[in-house]
Amino acid sequence: MKAQISYFTGTGNSLRAAELCRQALEAAGYETALSEIRRGSVPDLNGFDFVGLCCPVYSLGAPRIVREFLQSLPAVSSPVRAFVLATAGDEQDVGWTVQEAKAALTAKGFDVVLADAVEMPNNWLPMSYVPTADEAAEILATAEAKINRAVAALLAGTRVLRPLNVEKYGRVRSAMLHGAFHRLGVRRLWFLFRTNDACNGCGKCARICPTQSISMVDGRPRWSRTCEQCLRCMNFCSLRAITQLEFLGKGSTRNHYHEPHFVPAGLEALTD
Ligand SMILES: Cc1cc2nc3c(=O)[nH]c(=O)nc-3n(C[C@H](O)[C@H](O)[C@H](O)COP(=O)(O)O)c2cc1C
Ligand code: SF4
Ligand code: SF4
Repeated sequence: MKAQISYFTGTGNSLRAAELCRQALEAAGYETALSEIRRGSVPDLNGFDFVGLCCPVYSLGAPRIVREFLQSLPAVSSPVRAFVLATAGDEQDVGWTVQEAKAALTAKGFDVVLADAVEMPNNWLPMSYVPTADEAAEILATAEAKINRAVAALLAGTRVLRPLNVEKYGRVRSAMLHGAFHRLGVRRLWFLFRTNDACNGCGKCARICPTQSISMVDGRPRWSRTCEQCLRCMNFCSLRAITQLEFLGKGSTRNHYHEPHFVPAGLEALTD
């Protein structure tokens, strides 16, 4: 039996969720591969017994790169069981993420048996509170237990399909927040990254960006429009030199976060 889990992550939460799912599937006898979602690479998911997707919530919806990935997936010739597990800073703020991923997979012929979200530490520095290391450890412990329960239900054949939470914002406000980020924000926010005087030109942000959206120009990072707003660069800059809309919430002074197991490609080669 073969399974494949695709993931996108900025700060490691969604990779951790994918890894826990992989471990549980392997323990149940599935040979399971993890595959990072990259622009332009489309896996052939025919021939798998199980397919999974783990990704963060961005302003009540799926990241643009994940949406594009789902749209570009070739249809499967016979139904393949699939699951979606979104990671969110607040489990009540998931918006349409799991519904849109489920709809996209269903349209391609997958049989989505689990579509849910799990609360993991928030990483949205410019806009919201980011937990301390102790708070994050507590949130992660609860999240890991929930992920393990979800995969156990999945393997037991229980269908878990998360309903859309419209109580918190209502459909209209949710649609506005979601639309503002997805139609405008992700296309413009890259332009609003800045560095402060703490930047020493080390180039770490450019090396670890999952979409290669940063180039170093005259010893300083320069962002480009392929940026997905994953905030890996900002959270991993140990000098807190990256800012974005600093006047809103003084994001650079907030706690910075990444999942403790997470070592992004490019980081291991650096001496920080
Ligand atoms: C641009 C951006 C938008 C976000 N929007 C939301 C949101 O609408 N609701 C929410 O609960 N968390 C939101 N978050 C928090 C992340 O979804 C959450 O921390 C996630 O687990 C990060 O996953 P990762 O470590 O795999 O990147 C946002 C984070 C970013 C960077
Ligand atoms: S990681 Fe931080 S200090 Fe290093 S180049 Fe990027 S912004 Fe500057
Ligand atoms: S530039 Fe920063 S926020 Fe944008 S995709 Fe790269 S690491 Fe993520």
